[in-house]
Amino acid sequence: MDESIIQGFSKYSKEQRINTLIHKYGFDEDLARRLSSFEAKDDTTRKIIDDLSENPISSFNLPFSIAPNLVVNGKNLFFPLVSEESSVVAALANAAGFWAVRGGFHAEVLGTEKKGQVHFKWNGNPEKLKLIFPEIRVKLLAESAFLTAKMEERGGGICSIELKEKPRVLGGYFQLDAAFETCDAMGANFINSCLEQFSKSLQEYFRTSKHVSDDERDCEIIMAILSNYTPESRARAWVECPVGDLLEGKSEEECQLFAEKFEQAIRISQADVSRAVTHNKGIFNGIDALAIATGNDFRAIEACGHAFAARRGQYSGLTDVSIHDGTFRFSIELALAVGVVGGVTAVHPLAKLAMQILGNPSAPELMMDLAVAGLASNFGAVKALVSVGIQHGHMKMHLSNILNQLNIPEEKRDVMQNYFQDKTVSYSAVETYWESLK
Ligand code: MEV
Repeated sequence: MDESIIQGFSKYSKEQRINTLIHKYGFDEDLARRLSSFEAKDDTTRKIIDDLSENPISSFNLPFSIAPNLVVNGKNLFFPLVSEESSVVAALANAAGFWAVRGGFHAEVLGTEKKGQVHFKWNGNPEKLKLIFPEIRVKLLAESAFLTAKMEERGGGICSIELKEKPRVLGGYFQLDAAFETCDAMGANFINSCLEQFSKSLQEYFRTSKHVSDDERDCEIIMAILSNYTPESRARAWVECPVGDLLEGKSEEECQLFAEKFEQAIRISQADVSRAVTHNKGIFNGIDALAIATGNDFRAIEACGHAFAARRGQYSGLTDVSIHDGTFRFSIELALAVGVVGGVTAVHPLAKLAMQILGNPSAPELMMDLAVAGLASNFGAVKALVSVGIQHGHMKMHLSNILNQLNIPEEKRDVMQNYFQDKTVSYSAVETYWESLK
């Protein structure tokens, strides 16, 4: 056996894992101290973070930031954001301040139902299965009652179970397609447990039912899993103001031109996939940052959002705009599933703090906040794109990163920033200018 293949790495202590790294890559012995400098100082927090994953060797730090002035349905909120991209918080905070004095963001939830499927193969008569399915559904519900009792007390549970026949995908392939209400939980564990119980009950039904002939008793469960596509769990957010209020200190005509250019940018994002992907990436800049801060599964939220963006058969931008009777209205509709109880939200100390900063929202309230984060980010991006261009803001942030990389002392930063105000920022240009100052 190849000796470089490691057995049982997950059983190693943190120290052993780090020593393995030192040995493999020739890192210097100081690595353990360097890694530990990024970890929480107190043992309890360190253990909480380490327990979130397998094989940790340290903590990977990202800025935990605040965007103030997010007025959502009349409430003035601070949004906690975690992002590695320097301009994300700035863009969102700018848009927040802009809209805070123009009526703020409005938001509503359009549904909260989530989905899951049992994928199975059965070589019996599909027409017969359709006839006996009501009896099967009763059995599935009865035998999963022990799992759903608590959720029902909270107002949730199983909303529906449908049978879907899919012979064109695979011979004898069917789905149990179930909908769930999971209240303030994201509900992954609840849904998956119900689906696995459905699988057992379904197989038992085929094994024992008098309606099933002996050659129809075999049912192969391929898999049972929730769907991260939740088109019935949706939020909408929008902003609106008179066109003439869109640009401070500018004429009515300039505002109208800006509104029209903005509208054209949105139409392009709706029609052209190359632009739509970048447009939506900018939307998820804000959504992911808020989802990560609140301990939510941002991959699930993104996957769902992108599928929703393709719901009409073509991938397109998630936002929309209208200009009617002198009013500019900018909106987003988003399918997403989130949780505010359980999971990382309940254990990560900063996720808990993020939830407090948001006023401990319910899951529907957090859905609206996420839609607002997406809309605000998109407004900031598109506004910049159709006016000064994106590099203007990005380069300021980029410059600050380069100043950090070059360890420029605080007292010299103003001079550097002033110099680069009207020049193209690049690492070598900053370095050269710094050398000339020394
Ligand atoms: C950069 O992170 C995001 C943007 O590219 C989004 C967009 O183009 O709309 C600026």
